[in-house]
Amino acid sequence: MERRNSSSQKGKGPKSAGKSSAAAPSRIAKTALGEEPEKRGRKNAAPKKGEASSRDFNVHVKTAKRRDYGSTLWLKRQLNDPYVRKAKAEGYRSRAAYKLSELDEKFALLKPGARVVDLGCAPGGWLQVAVKKTGGRGKIVGIDYLNMPAVAGADILEMDFLDEAAPDALKDMLGGQADIVLSDMAAPTTGHKATDHLRIVALAEAALDFAEDVLAPGGAFVCKVFAGGAEGDLLTRLKQRFATVKHAKPKASRSDSAEKYVVATGFKERG
Ligand SMILES: C[S@@+](CC[C@H](N)C(=O)[O-])C[C@H]1O[C@@H](n2cnc3c(N)ncnc32)[C@H](O)[C@@H]1O
Repeated sequence: MERRNSSSQKGKGPKSAGKSSAAAPSRIAKTALGEEPEKRGRKNAAPKKGEASSRDFNVHVKTAKRRDYGSTLWLKRQLNDPYVRKAKAEGYRSRAAYKLSELDEKFALLKPGARVVDLGCAPGGWLQVAVKKTGGRGKIVGIDYLNMPAVAGADILEMDFLDEAAPDALKDMLGGQADIVLSDMAAPTTGHKATDHLRIVALAEAALDFAEDVLAPGGAFVCKVFAGGAEGDLLTRLKQRFATVKHAKPKASRSDSAEKYVVATGFKERG
């Protein structure tokens, strides 16, 4: 595993791999799957038309002595989730991989040889999809503050994206402009609605700042948003800088989650 020393934190920095790695340890997967943010929104919603249903499976999970009720519910949902099973069977690090695959099928985002930046990349499902869809000929760079195993064909920076040194470190790794900037970043919720909303907007705005800086003309930006989607200043900026701005909720995104994605394509040349 190659490690370069551009990160400000000891023992952390970019890593890349020449071969496939084992799945992330469950400690990473549970946090990195964004479970807390996915709890936002409607509860117990019925699956939408065409959406995989967890009713196809019913693994019963007993409450163990050392597992609290919330963890038992999380485990039950994971074990009964068809996308979790599919990801395991097909070697993807996360069920989130299917969200990017669906977005790509709908918007034709990941072209062979493309240069991709993935913000909030752990445990690595989107990186795996990006490597596959770009045919291993482009440049794939990811960042996450969580430690994660390397992904073959991608360079990973272990760092907080909100660290002021992060954008330049990512640009160094990329070594040129990007064709697409992806952000699946989600901060753990505090339970305080207004605070959580501000944190979500701050992450999306930081991702867009970076995208505006590195995207090549014609490039694309995909960003996780919640509730009403991209709104206010963020939406205004997106509409000014991109030819088209759309929202999408992939079937792989849980129906009881308020998450959705804003997909902006056709980045306009700086005037
Ligand atoms: C839903 S997960 C991403 C899953 C990923 N797309 C995949 O396919 O495996 C969201 C990730 O965003 C990361 N994240 C949130 N805020 C971040 C920040 N400020 N800097 C870096 N990563 C961040 C979290 O650590 C988490 O791993």
